[in-house]
Amino acid sequence: MDREPELVEKILGLKEKRNAVILVHNYQLGEVQDIADFVGDSLDLSQRAAKTDASVIVFCGVHFMAETASILCPDKTVLLPDMHAGCPMANMITAPQLRARKKEHPKATVVCYINSSAAVKAESDVCCTSANAVGVIESLAADEILFVPDQYLGHYVSSKTSKKMILWPGFCPTHARILPEHIIKLKHEYPEAKVVVHPECKPGVIALADEVLSTSGMIKFAGREDVRQIIVGTEIGIIYRLRKENPGKHFIPVSEQAVCPNMKLITLEKVLWSLEEMAPVVKVPERIRLKAKKAVDRMLAVGRSA
Ligand code: 13P
Ligand code: SF4
Repeated sequence: MDREPELVEKILGLKEKRNAVILVHNYQLGEVQDIADFVGDSLDLSQRAAKTDASVIVFCGVHFMAETASILCPDKTVLLPDMHAGCPMANMITAPQLRARKKEHPKATVVCYINSSAAVKAESDVCCTSANAVGVIESLAADEILFVPDQYLGHYVSSKTSKKMILWPGFCPTHARILPEHIIKLKHEYPEAKVVVHPECKPGVIALADEVLSTSGMIKFAGREDVRQIIVGTEIGIIYRLRKENPGKHFIPVSEQAVCPNMKLITLEKVLWSLEEMAPVVKVPERIRLKAKKAVDRMLAVGRSA
């Protein structure tokens, strides 16, 4: 028997009762995207969290995203339906490691990708997402930037700015599976298609792209009248939304291997369970939150640039 309609009904009923909002990242399973109040990229989701008047935020994404919601909304209960949904890239740098690197580059302004822990954000001057990394860095007075943890996003930004960028050697294991040869092969098969990739991809992949965009940037690009066929270089969860919002257009994932197992830990069953139990709660300690909020607020003031 298909349990999905029953699960959805229960989730929506409890959502009302708890005065909750369900925020969902573009990489989530299709059935989770379908129960969302809002689906978006990391920047959209932070902006939504900052302005919601719900009492509870159910975050269908990974841990750093729920932490960002907690940083912005200390009075709300932030639920992450599976506490194991982490981001391996975010775990590639710790606050003590960043403090040590800062001592080596005392004049540098520290920019952290939003894919980082609250403790790392608290050690940073400003944060950025894939949708505004170039804009954030260009907004800074400093000429020397210490950028953590994504070396590939950092490399991409350094190709767009004259500032000196010191990069931390982190990376996304999912985007690292996307290779130039995959794109070259697909370009031969679909010569009319546009190639769109995420800036977490390696430089050799980025060099082959027509557009380098955040996940919501890709959704927007796909909606353009003149775009009919796209080779998509990012996590494959986004294909669901692209197809749903653009019937009749053709989306070709670069690699079926580009799956983020952490994003897929969130299921309808777990969303229901977390609303029933009001757990697991993500709450950033106040001392860290206040410092991290400065970096996040500074980013939100810049807004979206891609
Ligand atoms: P976006 O902010 O572009 O959605 O990216 C988030 C992410 O984790 C990419 O791997
Ligand atoms: Fe982290 Fe990569 Fe998963 Fe995004 S896709 S959450 S960067 S592991």
